[in-house]
Amino acid sequence: MTPDDVAPLVHGAIFTRGGVDLRSTAVWVGGSDVARAEALTAAVQKVFFGPFRVSLMMDANGCNTTAAAAVARLRGAATLDGARVVVLGGTGPVGLRAAGFLAREGASVVLGSRRLDRARAAAEQIRARFGVDVSPAETSDAAGTARALEGAVVCLAAGAASVVLLPRRVWVGHPTLAVLADVNAVPPLGIEGTESGDKGAERDGKQVFGALAIGSLKMKVHKACVASLFEKADAVLNAEAIYAVARAT
Ligand SMILES: NC(=O)c1ccc[n+]([C@@H]2O[C@H](COP(=O)([O-])OP(=O)(O)OC[C@H]3O[C@@H](n4cnc5c(N)ncnc54)[C@H](OP(=O)(O)O)[C@@H]3O)[C@@H](O)[C@H]2O)c1
Repeated sequence: MTPDDVAPLVHGAIFTRGGVDLRSTAVWVGGSDVARAEALTAAVQKVFFGPFRVSLMMDANGCNTTAAAAVARLRGAATLDGARVVVLGGTGPVGLRAAGFLAREGASVVLGSRRLDRARAAAEQIRARFGVDVSPAETSDAAGTARALEGAVVCLAAGAASVVLLPRRVWVGHPTLAVLADVNAVPPLGIEGTESGDKGAERDGKQVFGALAIGSLKMKVHKACVASLFEKADAVLNAEAIYAVARAT
């Protein structure tokens, strides 16, 4: 799909029924590229006019629901406002969104990537979308990750499945880290020495949220969002709206 393709599909949704029946149809924007999904979402909204609209949700690669659930879990465990928070694997769909939500909560966010240029590009993408600044960091090895974590209170591992981003030796005994979260449920996990089922479990003095604890909230958020699409004909479940659902769930 490209933004140029959406008009006929949206016309099919908004002109084949009317009035209250428009609540029976919704537009879902998925895919794996967050920036392209944002462009499609904007294109869909441009086609709507007057009462000719249906509800709309964007969740490319589960980015919004997963990141919203992860940040909601972290928000319940730590004071994010003013805290240094490191997002490892921050260039993927989930990390990009999580970094944006965290920065909007007032956290001082460091976005890690194996490549500094990718981290910088992600930081720019977040600034353009959310109007907040995050600090890019190269975290290609344990030494780089340890540097990024200096003074950090929270670390979220948002890397690809089966990739260890935070070795145990880096976080055990860390003087400031208090809360760890990981969205990778496929072994080996993103944070070595934790379990995917950890739900605020204490490990070596840190509070840990594993991917299943985040995933269970993610599914509640996902279902609540999907249900709300059909309560009215003009719901827009974008990043901010989905995060609001997660905060209230
Ligand atoms: N719990 C849930 O409900 C749920 C839902 C959706 C996704 N997930 C999980 O959330 C995680 C993030 O999803 P995503 O789609 O954002 O991930 P992704 O795009 O596949 O990967 C995120 C980042 O990980 C880094 N990475 C990839 N391969 C790596 C490697 N071999 N070594 C080190 N870093 C590597 C890359 O960053 P750089 O190249 O910039 O270093 C990449 O941008 C995944 O583990 C996914 O399975 C969970």
